[in-house]
Amino acid sequence: MQVSPSLLAADFSNLAKDIDMINKSDADMLHLDVMDGVFVPNISFGFPVMESVSKICTKPLDVHLMIVHPERWVGQVRDIGAGIMNFHQEACVHMYSLVQDIHNAGMKAAVTLCPSTPVDTLKDIIGELDMVLLMSVEPGFGGQKFIPHTLTKTEELKKLINKSGSSALIEIDGGVNAETAPLLAKAGADILVAGSYVFNAKDPISVISSLRKH
Ligand code: DX5
Ligand code: ZN
Repeated sequence: MQVSPSLLAADFSNLAKDIDMINKSDADMLHLDVMDGVFVPNISFGFPVMESVSKICTKPLDVHLMIVHPERWVGQVRDIGAGIMNFHQEACVHMYSLVQDIHNAGMKAAVTLCPSTPVDTLKDIIGELDMVLLMSVEPGFGGQKFIPHTLTKTEELKKLINKSGSSALIEIDGGVNAETAPLLAKAGADILVAGSYVFNAKDPISVISSLRKH
């Protein structure tokens, strides 16, 4: 299992300390949640913060855009050196073009689905994707309760990926902890995003390692 700790739950008054912890941990990447107050009812941080983070973070950046018009920001996401650009299916009409633009910018392309968006809607684009991010909570806030239906969705997505011969990885975001991680591993998840479970822990480095063991 790969692990992508979400910076949303970090101490914003001392990001350098938390990023140093991430660098020392065996986290596979760092998840950055961008919220615009329009697509989701919250505002987090934007490019100036991510640019500073990218200067000191040694892990690939997994950028999760919870914003309208994600197609407008490909260049800026590339410029902060992101490895993966996640955009919401619900915020994008022309997904083929956007996926192509993300690839042309040298990044991996991932489509994110809100909890109520069916996996089937990816049937005609799954072959183009490097990753699918399933939200296991409504996007916008950390620390929410895991929606159990995500387990069925993960299994459905795994079937769709296998059937289509796609190499897309499955990432899950929201309410990941010691209880939900093994269930997600069994259902077919490849990458777990974890915010509060990692950053609220006494020993975040060992929490990251324990998640990776699944
Ligand atoms: C929610 C964000 C998540 C969030 C997860 O909109 O996309 O990445 O940080 O937080 P936890 O792990 O606390 O549920
Ligand atoms: Zn996220």
